[in-house]
Amino acid sequence: MSVPVAGPDSHGEPPAGLDERDGRHAELIQWWQAERRDLPWRRTRDPWLVLVSEVMLQQTQVDRVLPYFETFSERWPTPERCATAELADVLTAWQGLGYPRRVRNLWRTAAIITEHHDGRVPADLDDLLALPGVGPYTARAVRAFAFGVDTGVVDTNVGRILARWAGRRLSPTEAQHIADELVPAGESWAWNQAMMDLGAQVCTKRDPSCGRCPVQPWCTWAGAVTSSERSSQPDPADRSAGVSTRQAPFEGSDRQARGRLLAALSDGPLPPERAAAAMRLEHDEARAQRLVEELIAEGLVTAAGDQLRLGAAR
Ligand code: ADE
Repeated sequence: MSVPVAGPDSHGEPPAGLDERDGRHAELIQWWQAERRDLPWRRTRDPWLVLVSEVMLQQTQVDRVLPYFETFSERWPTPERCATAELADVLTAWQGLGYPRRVRNLWRTAAIITEHHDGRVPADLDDLLALPGVGPYTARAVRAFAFGVDTGVVDTNVGRILARWAGRRLSPTEAQHIADELVPAGESWAWNQAMMDLGAQVCTKRDPSCGRCPVQPWCTWAGAVTSSERSSQPDPADRSAGVSTRQAPFEGSDRQARGRLLAALSDGPLPPERAAAAMRLEHDEARAQRLVEELIAEGLVTAAGDQLRLGAAR
């Protein structure tokens, strides 16, 4: 069944088929109650732990995050505990998760929360957005999942669903507006988790299982094309708001070389002349040097005396 869609002029009104939203809301939430993933960050409403999980999940798959979340939440269960830790220790615990700027930002955020917010993660959107590493997605995830605020949470899964429902690529403002409009009052936590699971389990990137979708009548894309056509049709989710683009290959990347140096420094300081070998860039000293300088500028590595060390001077 095809559902009328919001046209380009409608500034992000939800697709018209969403008007029968109450019944559909119930269908999605019922589906979710049967299919929900049991994840450790869903067993807490502690704002700090929700923030930690969301930062970890920003660029990393759920399965990889699980052991890191367990370790981190045991070692640094409050912003204050994190703020008083050495950055080197926090970075070492993050080893293997990638994108270490995330944890440097989290550590700085912990200090700001401790100093300026009485040790409690703020619930206010602007206060959250002012924290290092907290963007529109993470701020709303914390508001919905820790504070139960009625707000849409548009991660890559949700962004994909919204674009397919609308049948076209959405701007960030449109996607956020539609996501906000859809949240059933007082059910933000369950609704947003359900949307994420729908994206992860049914409305997947490559092979959506439209036949299993509890809210298929909402979807313009599913209604417009058959499953065999769908593979040759442009996906409205491509480059739509919130939808992540493919990551550059890791093998041979700067990320890989930087990760190797951080891993080596987790075992202890190194003289700068050993950095290229630690990064396996002996053949390209200039690139090695550039990467070391970047890591220092980002506050992930310090050069003190004749040694490179993990972490930063405060
Ligand atoms: N990705 C980001 N936040 C998530 C959550 N709360 N559950 C599952 N996946 C997520």
